[in-house]
Amino acid sequence: QFCEAGIGYGESTCGTTSSSSSSSSKLLIKGGTVVNAHHQHLADVYVENGIIVAVQPNIMVGDDVYVIDATGKFVMPGGIDPHTHLAMDALGITTVDDFFSGQAAALAGGTTMNIDFVMPVNGNLTAGFEVYENKAKKSCINSFKFFMAYKGIIMVNDELLLEGLKKCKSLGALAMVHAENGDAVEAGQQKMIELGITGPEGHPLSRPPALEGEATSRAIRLADFVNTPLYVVHVMSIDAMEEIAKARKSGQRVIGEPIASGLALDDSWLWHPDFDTAAKQVPSLVSLYLMSPPIRSKGHDKALQAALATGVLQLVGTDHCTWNSTQKALGIDDFRKIMNGVNGIEERMHVVWDIMVESGQISVIDYVRLTSTECARIFNIYPRKGAILPGSDADIIILNPNSSFEITAKSHHSRSDTNVYEGRKGKGKIEVTIAGGRVVWENNELKVVPGTGKYIEMSPYSYLFDGLDKKDAIYLNSLQAPVKRAKTTT
Ligand code: URP
Ligand code: ZN
Ligand code: ZN
Ligand code: ZN
Repeated sequence: QFCEAGIGYGESTCGTTSSSSSSSSKLLIKGGTVVNAHHQHLADVYVENGIIVAVQPNIMVGDDVYVIDATGKFVMPGGIDPHTHLAMDALGITTVDDFFSGQAAALAGGTTMNIDFVMPVNGNLTAGFEVYENKAKKSCINSFKFFMAYKGIIMVNDELLLEGLKKCKSLGALAMVHAENGDAVEAGQQKMIELGITGPEGHPLSRPPALEGEATSRAIRLADFVNTPLYVVHVMSIDAMEEIAKARKSGQRVIGEPIASGLALDDSWLWHPDFDTAAKQVPSLVSLYLMSPPIRSKGHDKALQAALATGVLQLVGTDHCTWNSTQKALGIDDFRKIMNGVNGIEERMHVVWDIMVESGQISVIDYVRLTSTECARIFNIYPRKGAILPGSDADIIILNPNSSFEITAKSHHSRSDTNVYEGRKGKGKIEVTIAGGRVVWENNELKVVPGTGKYIEMSPYSYLFDGLDKKDAIYLNSLQAPVKRAKTTT
């Protein structure tokens, strides 16, 4: 009962319909600026049978090829979301987005691959797999996530975490942590209840940034002790981010994943003067934003953006975990019962473009790295994914920097009846999504059918594991004197 396991899905379980434009197995994207994480240049991209065949200027093709004009636009690798929960069961109910609606939404927003999590069933991860296989056909693993929060449900203590870190190292599997101090969160919840604060505001008040910082620091130090890489999911606070910065500065292999909601939102809705009225009128209005760790107060968002821009944090996820307003309303009188989680799988690419590229904080090359390439490297599927190179899978998006996007629950593709980015507008619009060589999103139209997505195997021993053995050997060598002494005295 101590962790969930990371599973990769590409091209979505939705796949494509056989509409004339998308059924062609040959595709040419003409005249765009092709952007990879290493550089960008004007080039055409030619695709055959789902694979990128050529990336060069002025490619000539016959009439049997479907041609897309990308003049003045960016042609980039499809987004990879490292952190989603589709069809997740919790406390007896299931999230509204399953592998069809969640991935359809992803494609409409330029994300062509998502990494989801198998949850254990009655403490058993193998049993969890069986349930999961029915939800998403096939599965394989190269990472495990440990929850340091959710006490009494799925939390691990230090002993288990330490054991898990060692096991991960032996498998070449990346250890991920949900870093909040679960014991202290429980105490914080108790305190709020005693104070009579039972509404949604009790949620962030009961689990302040310090508890995230503490657990992040503890996980980092334990991973250092074991000498294994660590991936901190949903970094939501300055406190956690600074622990990661410190560890990276000292040379430790720690990856920090901020998520779209943490970068783009703050908790000002909690302190709205009309809070009572609003919360009463629409019980879900406030609980809608609840997730763990909580969306923090103003300032954390900007600091996380800066950390992402400067390489302290490496990639962006969403933690897409959607409950509709009826499900969210279940805990309206007791914040401890509010289902945790927010949407983002469809919005991430636009939101990150808007807040990071349009604000001038990062280059377009960096955008590709943060939304796709780095994820592919960390989870060991680069350059099959995360690149526009000959031989890579044809998961491609075309973004028009002069067009604009608007987010509303009315027009989104998730099954959720709400959207935490409701009303948000910005520049930069993903006009085309190509998944596995097929056009699945074009002219604001989604062309998907269930069951055609592919499971993507992610092998263990990513680059993060290179050289760990050398460090271990140096450490063991440094113990020669005490080992000798121990031997001579026994
Ligand atoms: O509130 C959240 N984050 N829900 C999803 C599960 C998790 O902790 O990642
Ligand atoms: Zn190039
Ligand atoms: Zn989590
Ligand atoms: Zn999550």
